[in-house]
Amino acid sequence: MNRYKILLGGSLAALLAMGFMANSISGKQAEKEALNTTPVVKADGIESRNDRWAGHFPRQYDSWKKTKKSETIVDMLEQKPQLAILWAGYGFAKDYNAPRGHFYALQDNINTLRTGAPTGPDTGPMPTACWTCKSPDVPRVMAEEGENEFFTGKWARLGDQIVNPIGCGDCHDSKTTELTITRPHLLRALEASGTNPDDITYQEMRSLVCAQCHVEYYFKATAYTDGAGKEQVAKVVTLPWAKGLSAEAMEEYYDSYDFKDWTHKISKTPMLKAQHPGYELFKTGIHARRGVACADCHMPYRQEGAVKYSDHNVGNPLDNISNTCLTCHRESEEEFKSLVKGKLERKEQLMEIAMDNLGRAHLEAGKAWEVGANEAEMAPVLQLIRSAQWLWDYSIASHGSFYHAPEETLRLLSVANDKAQQARLKLVGVLAAHGTLNYQAPDFSTKQKAQQLAGVPLAKLVDAKMTFKDTLLKEWDQNAVQAGRLNPETRKGMSDISSYTR
Ligand code: HEC
Ligand code: HEC
Ligand code: HEC
Ligand code: HEC
Repeated sequence: MNRYKILLGGSLAALLAMGFMANSISGKQAEKEALNTTPVVKADGIESRNDRWAGHFPRQYDSWKKTKKSETIVDMLEQKPQLAILWAGYGFAKDYNAPRGHFYALQDNINTLRTGAPTGPDTGPMPTACWTCKSPDVPRVMAEEGENEFFTGKWARLGDQIVNPIGCGDCHDSKTTELTITRPHLLRALEASGTNPDDITYQEMRSLVCAQCHVEYYFKATAYTDGAGKEQVAKVVTLPWAKGLSAEAMEEYYDSYDFKDWTHKISKTPMLKAQHPGYELFKTGIHARRGVACADCHMPYRQEGAVKYSDHNVGNPLDNISNTCLTCHRESEEEFKSLVKGKLERKEQLMEIAMDNLGRAHLEAGKAWEVGANEAEMAPVLQLIRSAQWLWDYSIASHGSFYHAPEETLRLLSVANDKAQQARLKLVGVLAAHGTLNYQAPDFSTKQKAQQLAGVPLAKLVDAKMTFKDTLLKEWDQNAVQAGRLNPETRKGMSDISSYTR
């Protein structure tokens, strides 16, 4: 790896920022040397128990633990009821919250109604792949079982294995503490998109550790023969980067396979669900272009006496402006806060229009089917809806996009709006051809109304989830503690909250 490959920027600001980064990197070298004398956390394999790193690296551990302070749930279906219509027939219409601290990654994955209420290792709606971005136990199990084996079976199969939330072993080598990529899907995607992993710079690693998870992906069905000679199909997390990282390039990739994540329950559209292409969208923005890494803003350096360390409380950089933005910029805190707020407001306005248009397009298409429209009439409409929703989703599922890459975000939302409008115009014609004039889509202005239209049996889902939490989940945790995979002390004082109550 070439640690000192620093790109030449164009502007004075860029040069200043570069100088700052170069300083940080050489400052880091001193720390690195000190680190060389520290004991090895685990000589062989991956140490997934975060508390086992604490004694060696108390500052990093204590700051990492602060991600536990993120103790509110923002129910996005409550905030933006259109979402339940847009995702009708798909898990996200059941439950979808804004992201919070890394400490809660596992709890939120277990609590979400999307992962259902399994009663044993072979039941439930989701594959094991849903654990992929939640825990350092994932690379540990992959190393123990094999990658295809990890990706085989139901989510519930690994319930007593994946028990420590996102932590040290996700981003660091357990033997050397060096930053490392623990998820093979990222290495494959980099190669598919033309990057040789040997050319990755140190500064790039400070973003790529995040790109293991904050990226778009799908589950690729992959046939293999297991150790016992049995034919199996793994659902392997795959990043659709082979044609490029832009929304349009990924859409072309998916279209070339006729891929769909699900069929929309109301409009019957073969849909794509964008996950969280945060890294991809970030790459189109000015900070990425000038060589700024995710860690520069989300993990700033802190000074404690003679020791400089990276703040592992990954959260909102604006909570901590003097250590983040102001290390490179000269503006005041107020100026920065209002600047970021302005970017958010512009995105919100276009996003609301896009979601309203898309919601209506689905409902109008549902009506068209109901009054007798045929496949040939509907095909161009559904193609527009698929594309519009993909572009909208790509731009907003990439959390923080309004700030990371505002121009690209607004461009995507504008094109999404145009396509959704085109679909609706065509639908006026289709509906008229079947004798329906002036159709008004039903009201979907609250979560309850929207979920009803989307056919989500909320009370039933919640009931089943509560039973799961009282039974199988308890067994998982007991097994993990008994096997020494989980230290129950690390969960002490952790609140258990979700978007629903029984
Ligand atoms: C999401 C990825 C991620 C996780 C999780 C993570 N780190 Fe880091 N860590 C980083 C990055 C990025 C740096 C900065 C690397 C650099 O610039 O040298 C870093 C730096 C470090 C360093 C070098 C000194 C410093 O502070 O810059 C140590 C030691 C360290 N981390 C320990 C830990 C420990 C212990 C944990 C678990 C409690 C942990 N890390 C969790 C990404 C992570
Ligand atoms: C192993 C997967 C993984 C890695 C690696 C990872 N993240 Fe995350 N990140 C997540 C998940 C999952 C969530 C949502 C957790 C939740 O809502 O319970 C999240 C949440 C976040 C949040 C929201 C926090 C909040 O309080 O609102 C930020 C910001 C974030 N990550 C930034 C980063 C950055 C920067 C890096 C790299 C230094 C990184 N993440 C590395 C998976 C990961
Ligand atoms: C130049 C600074 C900067 C860089 C570099 C940066 N971010 Fe951000 N990020 C921000 C700001 C500012 C926000 C918006 C915080 C807010 O208002 O919620 C944000 C928001 C986020 C969020 C959403 C948090 C939430 O709770 O909704 C995630 C996730 C995130 N960033 C991840 C990343 C990842 C991954 C990278 C690298 C690919 C990255 N960021 C690079 C400044 C930065
Ligand atoms: C590591 C250095 C670095 C950090 C940290 C950083 N920036 Fe920047 N920022 C830059 C560079 C370099 C540019 C590009 C300047 C240019 O090319 O004109 C830039 C450009 C900008 C711009 C102008 C482009 C645009 O998107 O409108 C804004 C605004 C901005 N930064 C805000 C922030 C905020 C807010 C934070 C903290 C969350 C932050 N920056 C953190 C280096 C940094």
